[in-house]
Amino acid sequence: MSLSLSRPDLIRRQNLINGEWTDARDAGRYPVHNPADDAVLAEVPDSTAVDARAATDAASRALPTWRDRLPRERAEVLRRWHALILANADDLGKLISLEQGKPLAEGRGEVAYGASYVDWFASEATRVYGDIIPQQHPGKRMTAVKEPVGVVAAITPWNFPLAMIARKIAPALAVGCTVVAKPAEDTPLTALALADLAVEAGVPPGVLNVITASRTRGIDAVADWLADARVRKVTFTGSTAVGIHLARESAGTLKKLSLELGGNAPFIVFDDADLASAVTGLMASKFRNGGQTCVCPNRVYVQAGVYDAFAELLARRVAALHVAPASDTNAQIGPMINRRAVEKIERHVVDAMSQGARALTGGAPLPSLGAHYFAPTVLTEVTDNMLVSQEETFGPVVPLFRFETEEEVIRRANDTPFGLAAYFYTQDMRRAQRMARRLEAGVIGMNEGAVSSEAAPFGGVKASGYGREGSKYGLDDYLSIKYVCQGDLD
Ligand code: SIN
Repeated sequence: MSLSLSRPDLIRRQNLINGEWTDARDAGRYPVHNPADDAVLAEVPDSTAVDARAATDAASRALPTWRDRLPRERAEVLRRWHALILANADDLGKLISLEQGKPLAEGRGEVAYGASYVDWFASEATRVYGDIIPQQHPGKRMTAVKEPVGVVAAITPWNFPLAMIARKIAPALAVGCTVVAKPAEDTPLTALALADLAVEAGVPPGVLNVITASRTRGIDAVADWLADARVRKVTFTGSTAVGIHLARESAGTLKKLSLELGGNAPFIVFDDADLASAVTGLMASKFRNGGQTCVCPNRVYVQAGVYDAFAELLARRVAALHVAPASDTNAQIGPMINRRAVEKIERHVVDAMSQGARALTGGAPLPSLGAHYFAPTVLTEVTDNMLVSQEETFGPVVPLFRFETEEEVIRRANDTPFGLAAYFYTQDMRRAQRMARRLEAGVIGMNEGAVSSEAAPFGGVKASGYGREGSKYGLDDYLSIKYVCQGDLD
């Protein structure tokens, strides 16, 4: 699949700073690869701290005017952006598939998903209410008003190159913040195309700035934002290790933070579950983006009474998955993002099998397709000491753990530093309520594998981070509350 779009002008190879497309100040560039075959798709700026600073300068200058626009006016700009994203869905979906590797149907699905956040926050822009506090003292009126936090730095991951940046930029712009953004090194083209459409929609110069960078230079660029007191908030989706680093390094200027970090989601199937529905839920949830999703089930616990039946049903479905590059319109699982990802998956599977796990299907890379493919895999007889239990595999591997009792599975499911998503299937509604209460996670799927929605609060607990994206709560992370006490009224 080549980099040819019906709107070739959406392929941007420069940073967007202050409404202008510019190279990195020192003209550095790095290549973006197609994970399907490692072909170079384009070269983009390899920005440094100098470029990051220029973006912050622009965002700071643009802030007062954007903040003072009527919410309705900001909403109109977001609505135009939403319409343009949908009008260019085919091109954007193709760009996502090209640089990230997910099948075309999933690429287009991500465009719709990302656009839904823009639409949602366009509406929320006009609903930022404050409070009049019931009177406490004669002659005094106390109010609480909400204000934009200021300049926001958005640092986004490669697994959803459009949706993750859209759901950070949209609420920020909706409430009157301005943004400096850095997409992941591997997937900058979609973010630049999205920024191009934002400009076309009428986002004023400096309100949205996007710079691209390779891993090493990106660290320097982000460090500049972390140290700059004008940047009042950092929103990040990515690994827990990087999230902790960002929290530590931004402490000097006490920034507001939203951190959507790693997960290790349990997926629990009780003896009384509707097995067909549980298998379908697991397939949808586990194999979304080839297993490279933070909310993907990582540990699948199946109660002893249905373990063998469930494993057999599942293995049949998994063996039938079609693994191919996005250029194959029948592809269901694409390449993993890079070689490091495949190596990690292989390390987990080899570790499990060397300790007694058995592969019902898959179990190895697929070099005949290319360097970044791994066969969809079902492992049985998996135990808690194996790497697949302790770390997020982030690939198309389903490890099946056997359990006996509800109490035991709750303890094992919660026995992880992470707490992003958790799923369970049971037809006992009392048990369902207990499980929802006792599982330590920010997102719960109760007889449901597809939990993501612009209308829902998405985010974790424990080492999976804090802050919520989407829903009415998604605005709070971009707002601060100002208390106004007016006296001398009587
Ligand atoms: C993620 O993988 O971080 C986000 C997935 C989602 O929004 O469903």
